[in-house]
Amino acid sequence: MLRRVLLAASVSQRVRKLVTTAPVARDVVRRFVAGETAAEALAVTRQLVADGLAVSIDHLGEDTTDPDQAAAVAAEYVALLERLAAAGLTTGGRTEVSVKPTAVGLGLPEHGEKTAAENIARICAAAKAAGTTVTIDMEDHTRVEPTLRLLAEIRKDYPDLGCVLQSYLRRTPGDCEALAVPGSRVRLCKGAYRAPDAVALAARTEVDRAYARCMRILLTGPGYPMLATHDPRLIAVAQSLAARVERDAASFEYQMLYGVRPAEQRRLAEAGALVRVYLPYGSDWYGYLVRRMAERPANLAFFLRALRSRN
Ligand code: FDA
Repeated sequence: MLRRVLLAASVSQRVRKLVTTAPVARDVVRRFVAGETAAEALAVTRQLVADGLAVSIDHLGEDTTDPDQAAAVAAEYVALLERLAAAGLTTGGRTEVSVKPTAVGLGLPEHGEKTAAENIARICAAAKAAGTTVTIDMEDHTRVEPTLRLLAEIRKDYPDLGCVLQSYLRRTPGDCEALAVPGSRVRLCKGAYRAPDAVALAARTEVDRAYARCMRILLTGPGYPMLATHDPRLIAVAQSLAARVERDAASFEYQMLYGVRPAEQRRLAEAGALVRVYLPYGSDWYGYLVRRMAERPANLAFFLRALRSRN
C-alpha cells in the first residue's frame, strides 16, 4: 500500500514541488546522490574507485519533453565522459555511464525513438573514445519494447551497450533468454516502477523467485551478467550458482545503489568480486529519491527523521 502511494507520489507534480522546495531535502538527498554537478560526481567516483569499487554514473532526469533538452542531456554525458577519461577513471571500464531513454528523448511526441537512438549513439561514441561502456536503464513497462528496439539498433555499432531487465515483469525470463548471447551486457534488477498485474508480478516472493530464475539464465549463458540487487539471499544464490557453473570473478558483476548497503559493497569487493556502484548526480533527483523510499520504508523513515530533527 505504502509502495503504491509513494510510486504515485513519484510522478505527482504537486508532491514534487512540496518536497523539492523543503529546505532539508537537499541534505537528505546527499545519502543517495553524489551532488548536483559533474565535479561532485567526479569527486565521489574518485573515492569509490580508490575503495576498489567500479561505478556507473547516472545524470538524473527523465521524461524530457523537448528535443533541445534531450540533446543537452546527451552533451552533458559526453562532457562527463571526457572529464572521467582525463581523470583516468574510465580505464578498463572502471567507471561507465547509465542513461535513461526518456531523458534523451524517447518520450517526445514526435520522433522520440529516433531522437533517443541518435543521442544514445553519441554517448556510446564518447564512451568508446574514453575506453568504457554505456548501460541503458529500463523505465516503466510501457518503455520496454521501444528500449529493447533501441538496444538492438545501437548494438549493431556498439555491441557493448548494456541494458536492464526487471524481474517483476512477466515477460522478463523470455527477454533474458533472448539477451543471454555472447558480448551481451545485461543488468538484472527487480524493477522500481508502478505496473499493472497484467504485466507484472505483485507479490515480493514471486518477484524474488523470478529474479533467481532470470539470474540462472544469465549466469549459465555466454553473456556478461550484472546482478543489481541488495538482497542478501539473492546474492548468496548468485555466489553459489556462479561457483557451480565455474564463472570466474571477472565474468560477471554485482551492482548496488550509492548509499545502500555500502559496507556490503566493500565486503564483496574485498572478497574478490567485481562490484559496481550506481551513482546518480544532478538537480532532478525527485523521482529517483521517491522510488528509493518506495522500496524500503527505512529509507522513508530516514527522510522523516531528518526533517523532524531540523524542525
Ligand atoms: P529489495 O528492495 O526487495 O530488498 C531486499 C533486501 O535487500 C532487503 O530485505 C534487505 O535485506 C536488503 N536491503 C535493501 N535495501 C537496503 C538498505 N537500504 N539497507 C540495508 N539493506 C537493504 N530499477 C528499474 O526499474 N530500472 C533500472 O534501470 C534500475 N537500475 C538499477 C541499477 C542498480 C545498480 C540497482 C542496484 C538497482 C536498479 N534499479 C532499477 C532498482 C531495482 O529495480 C530495485 O528497485 C532496487 O534495487 C531494490 O531492490 P533490491 O533488489 O535491492 O531488493
